[in-house]
Amino acid sequence: MIPFLTVRHAGGSYPVWLDRGLLDQTGRIVEPRGSVFIITSPTLRQRFGERVAASFEKTAAIIELEEGEANKTLATAESLLTRLLGEGAHRDAMVIAVGGGMIGDTAGFAASILLRGVDLVQVPTTLLAQVDSSIGGKVGVNHAKGKNLIGGFHQPRAVITDPDALDSLPQREFLSGLFEALKGGVVGDSALFERIETDPAALLQRDAKLVDEVVRRKISVKAKVVSDDEREGGLRRILNYGHTIGHAIETAASYEGITHGEAVGWGMIGANAVARRRGILREEEAGRIERTIRTLQSGGLPPLDRSQVLAAARHDKKNRRETRVMVLPRAIGECEIVEDVTEAELAFGIDAALADQ
Ligand SMILES: NC(=O)c1ccc[n+]([C@@H]2O[C@H](COP(=O)([O-])OP(=O)(O)OC[C@H]3O[C@@H](n4cnc5c(N)ncnc54)[C@H](O)[C@@H]3O)[C@@H](O)[C@H]2O)c1
Ligand SMILES: [Zn+2]
Repeated sequence: MIPFLTVRHAGGSYPVWLDRGLLDQTGRIVEPRGSVFIITSPTLRQRFGERVAASFEKTAAIIELEEGEANKTLATAESLLTRLLGEGAHRDAMVIAVGGGMIGDTAGFAASILLRGVDLVQVPTTLLAQVDSSIGGKVGVNHAKGKNLIGGFHQPRAVITDPDALDSLPQREFLSGLFEALKGGVVGDSALFERIETDPAALLQRDAKLVDEVVRRKISVKAKVVSDDEREGGLRRILNYGHTIGHAIETAASYEGITHGEAVGWGMIGANAVARRRGILREEEAGRIERTIRTLQSGGLPPLDRSQVLAAARHDKKNRRETRVMVLPRAIGECEIVEDVTEAELAFGIDAALADQ
């Protein structure tokens, strides 16, 4: 067997394995040096966690974390560390995160600080985790002051992606990942964008061939970008397309009534408006992106206060002092990082994103 691709980073590289049915082969693929700990949730345990555990010759311990963004905290990470140490984890332990981005980020963070870092394997089970959060080595938890404020980088030993796992994913979660995939298309792969643009209905019905191709292409975009820029000094920021306004929408909505992917979709519409106003994105391509986003949006935006969205955008992590940083598309498949977005442009983008509220 050969991996789908290899992600390079400063300390080495790791394989991304991708195929239907791979979950049951996890034990054969990874080479644990010591004891194995499978971190999952009560709901995902039976469906996936136990299958992954059964794939190991030696006994693998299963540890459950309560799901949900509200549980992605230092307290959860600490209780996981207590469990791991209590079950005798040594420096040669291997932590295997089986679940969506919440499990991957939290278990990954715990693995990064346990005994100054133990082996981590990501087994992503949501579309978002498969095409985004499992790759790139970012791990962390939330703080009362904001999302993902505590964390670091801990590159996995391997990522094992099994698109079969997506069959049971609720539609809204599937859609959330699809927006990230669409973003990846606009950022760096026009063929990926076209796959989604051409037959969104088939995708939403999870046509296996189409889903596989979208997952493959989006993983490639992300792997390429993070290989070239491991720590988000430059190029990696390109993946933030749609996120400046998207995050602001999520914050203003208090993360209720809207998924991350949906917010990114509206954020892409906002970014496109700024790009059009600057004259760097053609009307026709902006129209194609916007039509595809609107076809996918399952509902409208929750009621939002424009000034709250604006205030949240001003506090965006990516901002350096007074200048606003935004990722703007030049064409489908090509974006640029713009450092000098004005307050007026930001407000213009937000108005476009919120236009049909
Ligand atoms: N590390 C990164 O680079 C990175 C990138 C993007 C997002 N993230 C983080 O990822 C998190 C979001 O991840 P997510 O969208 O995967 O959400 P999630 O992990 O919260 O999972 C969403 C829901 O789907 C359920 N679920 C998972 N797999 C399932 C399956 N196969 N079948 C049925 N149900 C399933 C879960 O139980 C959960 O209820 C956020 O915390 C975000 O900050 C991290
Ligand atoms: Zn995102």
